[in-house]
Amino acid sequence: MFGYGVVGQGLHDVLEKSTGVRAEIRRICVKDKHKKRRLPLRYFTFDKRDILEDPEVNLVVELIDDADEAFRIVGEALSSGKNVVTANKKMVAEHLPELIRLQQDSHTSLLYEGAVCGAVPIIRNLEEYYDHEWLGSVRGIFNGSTNYILTRMYKDGLAYTDALQEAQEQGFAESDPWLDVSGMDATYKLSIIIEHAFGLNIRPEDIFHLGITGISNHDIRYAAEKKMKIKLVPYAGRVGKNSLTAFVLPRFITGEKQLYQVDNEYNGVIVEAAFAEKQFFFGKGAGGHPTGSAVLSDISANAYDYAYEYKKRRQTRNFTYTTDVNLNVYFRYLNPEDRALLEFTDISETCSGREYSYIIGKINLRELMEKSEQLNQKSVSVINLGDKPT
Ligand code: HSE
Repeated sequence: MFGYGVVGQGLHDVLEKSTGVRAEIRRICVKDKHKKRRLPLRYFTFDKRDILEDPEVNLVVELIDDADEAFRIVGEALSSGKNVVTANKKMVAEHLPELIRLQQDSHTSLLYEGAVCGAVPIIRNLEEYYDHEWLGSVRGIFNGSTNYILTRMYKDGLAYTDALQEAQEQGFAESDPWLDVSGMDATYKLSIIIEHAFGLNIRPEDIFHLGITGISNHDIRYAAEKKMKIKLVPYAGRVGKNSLTAFVLPRFITGEKQLYQVDNEYNGVIVEAAFAEKQFFFGKGAGGHPTGSAVLSDISANAYDYAYEYKKRRQTRNFTYTTDVNLNVYFRYLNPEDRALLEFTDISETCSGREYSYIIGKINLRELMEKSEQLNQKSVSVINLGDKPT
């Protein structure tokens, strides 16, 4: 095992309390020699070769947060014929085509259920349960920290920075919490989901994302007055017959929606399928034990030689990715000159107030992509109203 942080320790607890799992941790490789650990020193090594070159290690569990080092470890492990379980979404999303090739070339298996939505078993369901079913869209709440922050701001009136600090203290946030609040973490998870749901590899940098850093008390109040909540909702779905679009945006959620009840560090995933129709998965998306339980499930699956087959890849001939879609959004700004920042194709509502102003209307996703930098720098927010992209 590599790493002994929140997830590593969570897995250790889960493994100790689970009966019947045919797995034993042989060695734990960590970086910091001086950090106080809750296990005796003899369990640890500081040299990755002690694990990668040990012929008796048949499975490497990678749980470190440095995605580049994680990729080197996973690459070496797979090339030398060892199976790998990881919870590193950044590493998986950034290298998926290479990781698939490596598995094929070395006849190994890489499993990463713990990388996507913690304890919600979405990857294995997309792979196995929906293996032949035509999927229309997958959306939901994929990041526990931002959901926790938005919940605490909405329910308890907490300031953004205090809510973020709590998410960090509880072990939900990444070591670099910018990955959470910027929407990047949700984007990595969406990119992985797209591979298993639609058989396309869309690199994270090609998916538009806007996180929650721009959400202000004005927006929360606006939502509350209309009995809605704001959630960060990644979306991937078909447009027409042969295209797929994807983005990560805050979204207003009305009271009758399933996602309305998904609060704190919980995640929810909605899959729209041709015959199964709408299905909703709900569970804890962050934290040591929930993520450790997903990692343990992969360790157990490894014991019966389970490997992803990437079955949806066979169904994607003539299927392309598009960002040329229109979304119905709310655009809130404070400075009157920011009104002109976004070009709408159609405006249905405008409001100019003393404290803040907003526009509701249709905007092309490409326009949002072009203005991404300004949207992150200015005191503005863009919140999706949730209509199907057209
Ligand atoms: N930082 C992540 C989250 C951890 O908050 O969802 C689980 O992937």
